[in-house]
Amino acid sequence: MEKYAHVFQGTAFSSKTFQEVNILKDFIFCINEDGFIEKMVSPDDEQYLALLGAYEGKENFHRLEDGEYLLPGFIDLHVHAPQWAQLGTALDLPLYDWLNTYTFPVESKFSDIDYAQTVYQDLVKTLIANGTTTALYFATVHKESSLLLAEICAKLGQRGLVGKVVMDNPDQCPDYYRDADTKTALQQTEEFIVAVQQLNKQTKQGVYPVVTPRFIPSCTNEALKGLGELAAKYDTYIQSHCSESDWEHEYVIDRFQKHDAFALNDFGLLQEKSIMAHCNFLNDEDAELFAKTGTAISHCPVSNVFFSNGVLPAAHLHEKGVDIGLGTDISGGFSPSLFDNVRQAVISSRMLEEGVDTTVSADNRGVPSSRLTTNEAFYFATAGGGESLSLPIGRIEENYTWDVQIINTKLPSAKLPIFGDDLYDIFQKIIYLARPENIQQVWIQGNKVHER
Ligand code: GUN
Ligand code: FE
Repeated sequence: MEKYAHVFQGTAFSSKTFQEVNILKDFIFCINEDGFIEKMVSPDDEQYLALLGAYEGKENFHRLEDGEYLLPGFIDLHVHAPQWAQLGTALDLPLYDWLNTYTFPVESKFSDIDYAQTVYQDLVKTLIANGTTTALYFATVHKESSLLLAEICAKLGQRGLVGKVVMDNPDQCPDYYRDADTKTALQQTEEFIVAVQQLNKQTKQGVYPVVTPRFIPSCTNEALKGLGELAAKYDTYIQSHCSESDWEHEYVIDRFQKHDAFALNDFGLLQEKSIMAHCNFLNDEDAELFAKTGTAISHCPVSNVFFSNGVLPAAHLHEKGVDIGLGTDISGGFSPSLFDNVRQAVISSRMLEEGVDTTVSADNRGVPSSRLTTNEAFYFATAGGGESLSLPIGRIEENYTWDVQIINTKLPSAKLPIFGDDLYDIFQKIIYLARPENIQQVWIQGNKVHER
């Protein structure tokens, strides 16, 4: 009866609904050759002992040790790969100055393929070690090194969605860091799409090209229109920044007399496979357009503290039917960890709620129903990311990919303070207290890609 590529036995946590977490205690997980969860068997099931009998002691049987737990791999919906080089620096400036003083000079260095190799390899390895099994990347304007990033994801086994960034607007982009012209930008984007779609065929976990206008200010109308057409022609993902900061939001109103959402939609850039970063200033009409077109939000709660001076009303937008996942926004966000971003998502949401109780505080500065619970923020980092990308990822459930992180809570050097056996308490402690050291193994599409 041995037919599975891998069989795991242990306890897993995975979102059941937006509000609820499923606790799969001592389940058996049967993983097929394609890296999908073919079957999950509970200890009450009559097949349980027979399955154990067939696999126990075999090389492809994995029993989690005492203190180890399975979580779905994280899905990071917003990473600027070249900004890994400046992680943790230059966070005291507003967005416009930060881009022009620090970020564009750093990104311009990625014309050097050797430099790109060093930085990108280190980044992808680090994200995997932090439990990130799928990442949506902005590379730079350079086609060659953008392709290299996709190749590194392919080689290291991470599911990478990668965009060659388009910046062709001479009014907003410096001479030293800009596409040569609009036609070249579109042509190179098309070549990039074709190359990554080829590369995808050689991977098990998938690597995908992403049409990537950096944000409206950096692109001409002709480029935005051409990119919408390319995305439709090749059925690709689309990513950009949308209504992030006061400056950027006002710029778009000045140029188009409308909000980012409607401007992007006019160019065919909002569709089922679109993921827009930040979106802090979406109003209800914008949100309805997102929900109608199937456009998702990558919520970047750490970065928003630094560059948006705002809090995304994530609970409200989710309620309006918009798909939401989490993004680190490296390096606007200083942490490569989605654990950190789950924590900040909860903390920021509580700040937004703050003051709403007028019996405590006279000034009613909060927004009601803004809170995100721990379970909801975890949902964004996992299941919500999967829904945003329309891929069967982000849940430990049958017919989903085996993308998991094994958390060791009893590591001598990083022991979590667990003094009881309530599994939901343990889940919460993992969410708030786990460090990268606790991530014992990471698997993507049924392949082990990290172990410490
Ligand atoms: N808007 C345009 N480019 C960027 C970027 O690199 N980071 C952030 N946070 N916002 C942007
Ligand atoms: Fe960003």
